[in-house]
Amino acid sequence: MTTKHNTAIESKPSTIASCLESPVTLRTLRRWSKEGSKWACLTCYDATTARIMAGAGLPTMLVGDTAAEMILGYDSTIHVPLNFLITLTAAVKRGAPNVFVMGDMRFLSYQVDEASAIQNAGLFLTEGKADAVKLEVDGKWTRRVEAICDAGIATVAHLGSRPQQAKQTGGYTTAGRSANAAKKIVEDAIAMEQAGASMILLEAVPEEVSSAVVEAITLPVIGCGAGTVCHGQVVVMQDLAGMTKWQPSFAQPISSIGDEIANVASSWMRNVSTNNLGKHPYNMREGESELFKERG
Ligand code: KIV
Repeated sequence: MTTKHNTAIESKPSTIASCLESPVTLRTLRRWSKEGSKWACLTCYDATTARIMAGAGLPTMLVGDTAAEMILGYDSTIHVPLNFLITLTAAVKRGAPNVFVMGDMRFLSYQVDEASAIQNAGLFLTEGKADAVKLEVDGKWTRRVEAICDAGIATVAHLGSRPQQAKQTGGYTTAGRSANAAKKIVEDAIAMEQAGASMILLEAVPEEVSSAVVEAITLPVIGCGAGTVCHGQVVVMQDLAGMTKWQPSFAQPISSIGDEIANVASSWMRNVSTNNLGKHPYNMREGESELFKERG
């Protein structure tokens, strides 16, 4: 039996409980955000996990460039190949066809020029079957976001802390800690709305900043370490599942799937070493075994 359960359901059962009986769209997310029905999002990188999480009723998933770290074992998001991310996005959508799936535009897939930005964003929709793309930006990228939106691509503008810039900023940082920096994030959010963005994602900012953004614009705001004022919340699934060595403070483990996987490996090792594989499932056809034994 599948359970339909998520944080959104707990806050507004009547609105969201049956959300995955039909596709979750931007219109759905706008409605929930307007109503104050908080909705959950998790990163996802494969069809099997997508199917399981959709079975739980999770309405939105992000195929993040964190696939570089979670799937490929790199120490930074900038290394994930674009085609690989698009392939994973299509896999997630196949596993969870009614979920609103966002594909993440990798480092340098939108910065180089407008034409390649539109082309690459479009591939997430045409090949990856994504519902929207997300890109890490600030106000300097308003025209680029506008060009992608003008091409008819639903776009999530990721503001605040931007992991793709970590080498330039000297590491992962909290954003918007000074009054000026906070003001700039709010201005950038307004600019992104005017440029046609469909949603804003705010990463690692103080609550005052998120509140000001939520007040200043009409778009749904997804928080990632941005406080409860945001309409939606996203974190890396492997962090919550207890599969990572380190987690940010806003995404502490609520499960221990890492331990469970280790248990599976230990049990399998024990079964293999003791020849405990259960009854063998394959038999030769009647009479063939004797003929086989008589072979010269
Ligand atoms: O790539 C990612 O997973 C992200 C989220 C953590 C917001 O950008």
